[in-house]
Parts: sequence; structure tokens; C-alpha cells
Amino acid sequence: MSEKEHKVSRRQFLSYTLMGVGGFMAAGMISPMVRFALDPALEAGGEIDLVQVATVDELTDEPQRFDFSVEVEDAWYTSEQSRTAWIYREGDEIIALSPTCTHLGCTVGWDTNEEHPNQFFCPCHLGRFEKDGTNVPDTPPTRPLDVYEMEIQDGAIYLGRPIRR
Ligand code: FES
Repeated sequence: MSEKEHKVSRRQFLSYTLMGVGGFMAAGMISPMVRFALDPALEAGGEIDLVQVATVDELTDEPQRFDFSVEVEDAWYTSEQSRTAWIYREGDEIIALSPTCTHLGCTVGWDTNEEHPNQFFCPCHLGRFEKDGTNVPDTPPTRPLDVYEMEIQDGAIYLGRPIRR
């Protein structure tokens, strides 16, 4: 091969350089958009196994607080996270509510406000929820408390992730 065949002209060099830089910049602009589009799929929040939290026998018709922890696998990172559930019986039904206020995420307590007994109360902005988790109208929360994904096996109650309803 002659030396001439390997020679890159100034015009070719400039055009390759511009293509490279342009491609790099385009990738930099497009990748956040792709990430944003895929975010709901990626945001699944990691895998959570159902964990035993309580037994059916210990429940009453009054919501009781149960604290537990779950292992959350997010991509290649596994962490242990603390959770709380308010669980009670309503006839044959068992209800497990998330304590996270649907206004801005503070923690609600059951029957903690003397002026509004038998309700979940959020001290941050005076939000209130009925026993079944329904938000009380004219208080800041605009949707009900989340309910936990639940399974009952041999009298044991297993909870997963809170589900928006
Ligand atoms: S965070 Fe609960 S009322 Fe605002």
C-alpha cells in the first residue's frame, strides 16, 4: 500500500472530529431523556419479599401499630429498611394501612388527637383520616392512606409494599 492511501485529508479529519464531538454531545442530551422515559420502570423501588409482621390472633378491631423491617434489593444494592403498619380487623377482613400521610409524608398516629377521636391524625398540618384510611374532607391530605400488599398463611400476616389506592 502506498502512503497516499492512508492519508487523511484535512477535510476528512475535521469531519470525523465534528462527528465525534457531535455524537458525544447528542448522547449527553438524549440519555437523560431516555432515563426520564424509562424511570417508572426503573423506579420499581427494588424487590421486597413479604415479611411476617403479626398474627391474626393478636389483632383487635382497634388499629395497632406494628414495626418491622424489610430487605430491599435495588439493583446490586441490598439494604434493610424500617417499616410501620397500622393493622386491625373489621369482621372477617384484615386491614393493614401505611402510616405515611398522603399530604407531605409525615407519620400519622391512631387516636392521638383528643378533638378527633378514632381517626388517624397527622401532626404536621393537622391532616386526618378515617379508620379505613379515607382522608377526611377539608383537611390537607387529598387521597387515602396506602394499604399494604398482604398475605395470610397459617394465621400469620405477611406484608409487602404499600399500594396506592
Ligand atoms: S404531612 Fe400530613 S397533613 Fe401535611
